[in-house]
Amino acid sequence: MLPVASDPTVGVKVGFTPLIKADRLAKRLGIRELWIKNDTVNYPTLSFKDRVVSVALSRARELGFTTVACASTGNLANSVAANAASAGLKSYVFIPSDLEQGKIVNSLVYGANVIAIKGHYDEVNRLCAEIAGKFGWAFVNVNMRPYYAEGSKSMGYEIAEQLGWQIPQHTVVPMASGSLLTKIHKSFQELTKLGLVSESAYKVHGAQATGCSPISVAQKAGLDFFKPVKPNTIAKSLSIGTPADGFYALRVMKETGAACDDVTDDEIREGIKLLAEYEGIFTETAGGVTVGVAKKLIAAGKIPANDSAVLCITGNGLKTLDAVVGHVGNTREIKPSLREFETLLANENLSTVTT
Ligand SMILES: Cc1ncc(COP(=O)(O)O)c(C=O)c1O
Repeated sequence: MLPVASDPTVGVKVGFTPLIKADRLAKRLGIRELWIKNDTVNYPTLSFKDRVVSVALSRARELGFTTVACASTGNLANSVAANAASAGLKSYVFIPSDLEQGKIVNSLVYGANVIAIKGHYDEVNRLCAEIAGKFGWAFVNVNMRPYYAEGSKSMGYEIAEQLGWQIPQHTVVPMASGSLLTKIHKSFQELTKLGLVSESAYKVHGAQATGCSPISVAQKAGLDFFKPVKPNTIAKSLSIGTPADGFYALRVMKETGAACDDVTDDEIREGIKLLAEYEGIFTETAGGVTVGVAKKLIAAGKIPANDSAVLCITGNGLKTLDAVVGHVGNTREIKPSLREFETLLANENLSTVTT
């Protein structure tokens, strides 16, 4: 069901991340049943991009490429760099120069050639299209894009399998290019056609950051086409102002009767904190977008309180510390002294337990 001629040779350990029943968060958001598909612990680079890279690089090897590359908002660069290193391929990753330190270091450490472009993602992508044509390298999301995109389907296959071969009533998916959302829909359709799940109605809802929300704005206005924007949000991994699959994502949401919404930077941070404090999962900004939008859709009744939903949490918070530093409280510093600790507790008006 994935476009490789033989067994994958790159990223064979990718995927089958936990599907967590999130009872505490469900109660907080006011929904009967909630699940977290936790790609914050995907292997090897802690985001769903390990799925797409596994397929694209396995295929690139089959086709005889020795240099691989990508245009990236961060996570894809990390995954191309790591998987190319373990496969013995040379890699060039192209990123906007203003990415988070965590995303940059997580590419450099694997010995990848990291090229930071002074511009936003759409300019990086345009340059990569020119380089791909001239140098003949395998750009996973440019000239290898059909293979790359199909890799996202494994997230949908796993969700259905982990639910006991059922398609969830609602799935909430973060969108940058919009590709993941379209492929989750495709995976559900394939499983239905193959008779591995019984046919059921489902909705695949989209989530964006308000500071880069071309698909969400179009969906809410009932339009089939989006208007390109210049991104300005802490959700840098989702900062694609001209989403390549935006048109198709809008079509999927229309076909499945789904909703779409977007959240501000403060709501993204609140989403990150909700997931951390209620489920013990630290997501990056994209996950904050997903939780924030899910909260809005549940409150608006677009995801009914009596239904069941899956949230796709696609990346790890350790890579976007910059987005939350200063917003998650501060440490309290004391000398290594019991008296100081007791004074601290007394000052904070907390009760101590004595045995
Ligand atoms: C963590 C994370 N989630 C979601 C996405 C969105 O992916 P897509 O471009 O398939 O919409 C990205 C894209 O870079 C990402 O890094």
